[in-house]
Amino acid sequence: MRILGIETTCDETGAAIVEDGFRILSNVVVDQIPLHERFGGVVPEIASRAHVQVVTRIIERSLVNAGIDPAGLPLEGPPVDAVAVANRPGLVGSLLVGLTAAKALALAWGVPLVGVDHIHAHIYAGFLEAEGRAERIDPGAVFPAISLVISGGHTSLYRSESFTSHELLGNTLDDAVGEAFDKAAAILGLGYPGGPAISRAAVGGRRDAVRFPRTLLEPDSLDFSFSGIKTAVLYHVKGQNARRAGPTREDLELADVAASFEAAVADVLVEKIRRALRREGLRRLVLGGGVAANRHLRERLAELGAAEDVEVLVPPPSLCTDNGAMIAGIGFELLREGRTSDLLLDAAPLAS
Ligand code: KG4
Ligand code: ZN
Repeated sequence: MRILGIETTCDETGAAIVEDGFRILSNVVVDQIPLHERFGGVVPEIASRAHVQVVTRIIERSLVNAGIDPAGLPLEGPPVDAVAVANRPGLVGSLLVGLTAAKALALAWGVPLVGVDHIHAHIYAGFLEAEGRAERIDPGAVFPAISLVISGGHTSLYRSESFTSHELLGNTLDDAVGEAFDKAAAILGLGYPGGPAISRAAVGGRRDAVRFPRTLLEPDSLDFSFSGIKTAVLYHVKGQNARRAGPTREDLELADVAASFEAAVADVLVEKIRRALRREGLRRLVLGGGVAANRHLRERLAELGAAEDVEVLVPPPSLCTDNGAMIAGIGFELLREGRTSDLLLDAAPLAS
């Protein structure tokens, strides 16, 4: 069964064809970094316009890359068995672009439409085809598990019973963790998006050079807060009570600051994961979202896995950030469960 997955929730336009929820026949992603770079974050109106400009070409490219000739359609029958689209959560204008394209194609091809939760799709990403994995992992061997989605917009901790059943255990009270990376990078003058920039800057830096705060909240809390560390970076880099626009200290060791920042964030994430695993009596963890691409965090999770006998499933870095393959993948599961949508499917900006 082949599914076209469409992703336009934020600032990546993605389309992919995935077979049987596993084999990635094509996966095309175009980001909008050059458009948002100078604002230090995603500008919603610019994002939705940019999606409009490229979405049909990206979908066409995903068909071509999967060996489907768009010129021959639809005379030879539908090219896919369903169209899956992330219709929640996200920027409403951006969501509407992908959703409208998906509806049009599902209608024209006469195939089911499947509305997908973008955060749940991030959890699915670890189950897709990847280097060194020739077969789909049996979900029964993974679930129930603790899942953590860490991205520019989300810091969501779940108890997951299956691909489509997730109970929210914790959430960020303020900034998402990816947002903290992006804001810290902006303060450090490292550009956008901040995650990869901080990671590059941290090479060779000392993880214990600066003691940034680890906000863990109450001892049993599974929620997160990352606004404090952002302010701590600002004060460290520009001086106590300094403003963002203020001058940067001259003696700053950028690599040390970046490495210490990563260490502090990783400490918090690992501690919350530990708490959740303990509380739920589980030994399996599924990670997803752009920040899951972070090398230091991946190392720390591998250590956690080895030291505490926890099985950790993390997607390859290219499938951590937003893409259409994860949408097609979870679309396959929803389709099997009969959870298709009609053409009245709406965009829902907030997480459900
Ligand atoms: O999942 P994603 O593409 O979009 C959302 O759903 O939000 O995540 C984007 C976020 C950005 O904040 C970016 O800075 C962060 O993921 N990110 C990283 C890395 N690569 C991307 N953060 C830390 N380390 C990375 N290597
Ligand atoms: Zn995402």
